[in-house]
Amino acid sequence: MTLIRPEEVTIRLLREEDLPALEWDGEYKRYRRIYREVYRNSQMGLSIPLVAETPRDGIIGQVFLNQKEPNPKFTARSRYYFLSSFRVRPQFRKMGIGARLLESCERQALLHRLQDIYLNCAVSNHRARWFYLDHGFQVIRIDDSDWSFVDDEGFVITEHQHAYLMKKTVVNSK
Ligand SMILES: CC(C)(COP(=O)(O)OP(=O)(O)OC[C@H]1O[C@@H](n2cnc3c(N)ncnc32)[C@H](O)[C@@H]1OP(=O)(O)O)[C@@H](O)C(=O)NCCC(=O)NCCS
Repeated sequence: MTLIRPEEVTIRLLREEDLPALEWDGEYKRYRRIYREVYRNSQMGLSIPLVAETPRDGIIGQVFLNQKEPNPKFTARSRYYFLSSFRVRPQFRKMGIGARLLESCERQALLHRLQDIYLNCAVSNHRARWFYLDHGFQVIRIDDSDWSFVDDEGFVITEHQHAYLMKKTVVNSK
């Protein structure tokens, strides 16, 4: 296990040259086009992709905040962020990096005055659910849906999602 001191980790915005590192040596290359789209959206102010980086290890974690319009299915009355692609490389977990990425998301939400953050957490992902509950998210409901994306080879892939829709309203504690 690689031990990391919190001060070694920088949380910053995704840059174009970071995109290959998000594929985790091929494990997530199927999402290549999604990553590029999120990067493009960030250039238009529609998403905030954050990465965790150390000088020695490079990019070791990521999370995307995507701006969405009000969606009656979410009972959201105003614009909100949808959090996605939240992951920390396995050897760097349980060192507080996930918590720091989440705190950065909350700071960004406050900064941009979009206080509601939603996310989907697979029903089978018990650890992540507890992580989000520990960080103040609430379960809104369970969603059963299919979502599709075009993979790195141009194939349309449909994945079934059985997930908790979770929400946190971020408040400025200062
Ligand atoms: C969910 C995820 C992003 C959390 O990232 P992380 O860097 O491990 O998060 P943290 O280190 O802040 O917290 C994780 C746990 O480590 C504990 N922890 C934090 N710092 C610690 C330390 N220095 N020593 C020991 N434990 C520590 C936390 O209390 C927390 O405990 P819990 O699992 O019982 O809640 C990560 O587990 C992950 O990438 N999972 C796979 C992908 C995934 O499921 N993503 C979510 C999709 S919805």
